[in-house]
Amino acid sequence: MFDSGFGGLTVARATIDLLPHEDLVYLGDTARYPYGPRPLDDVKAYSLQIAEHLVDRYDIKLLVVACNTATAAALDDLAGALDVPVVGVIEPGVRALLEVSDSRRVAVIGTVGTVESGAYQHALSRLAPDVDLLCCACPGFVEFVERGVTFGAEARLLVTRLLAPIVAADVDALLLGCTHYPYLARVISDVVGQKVVLVSSADETAFALARLLNEDGLRNPPSPMPGTQQFVSSGDIRAFTALGGRLLGPELVDAELWTPPG
Ligand code: DGL
Repeated sequence: MFDSGFGGLTVARATIDLLPHEDLVYLGDTARYPYGPRPLDDVKAYSLQIAEHLVDRYDIKLLVVACNTATAAALDDLAGALDVPVVGVIEPGVRALLEVSDSRRVAVIGTVGTVESGAYQHALSRLAPDVDLLCCACPGFVEFVERGVTFGAEARLLVTRLLAPIVAADVDALLLGCTHYPYLARVISDVVGQKVVLVSSADETAFALARLLNEDGLRNPPSPMPGTQQFVSSGDIRAFTALGGRLLGPELVDAELWTPPG
């Protein structure tokens, strides 16, 4: 599983809780985050480098792209390049969004890269062309999370400003289309109001992953021993362990360094 930094830990948490017998390797590309403002071709190149490293070094049986921006930029290329199945976060999120909306007016928030890629607009028009979708980019949210700021006046001010179009649009469901955003869910929910159901692509991706492991016969059998977790970061290891442990929980006690090629 990989993300630009800490956001994919929301997917890691959901996966560890749902699939406690699976062994997990998580790579946060903190040396090159944020992915959101970067050209999608750069994000695609990073994603392919990371996937190659995870396959070669850890012999993974399946790859989760725990990042919406990387899913938008590279899912098809990763699926074509790898011999293992690849799961992204966009389609599971859209399916869950459609399930909870009664009014058929929904919104998605994500990074500039994700929103401008059109990936959500495309997925929704394929799965439910009758649904009204508002997509908003939220530059700055990821940086807050990467600094460990997930609530407080400063975060609330930015969330209030960027989500004003969503409050005005009167939607009944909002998809957090960036894996960092569940860490801001409390502030987001305060701003959009409790009538708007928040959908996390992290939980939905863990469910999709469980289904795929079952279908492909890849799921580890139950055993008295829980699965293992390993963490890898391309940036400062101590900073990754300190904030990552706070965000994920007790599984993240150390991490190894990976230096990207080039
Ligand atoms: N967590 C990532 C996502 O889901 C991207 C954050 C970033 O690096 O901009 O899009």
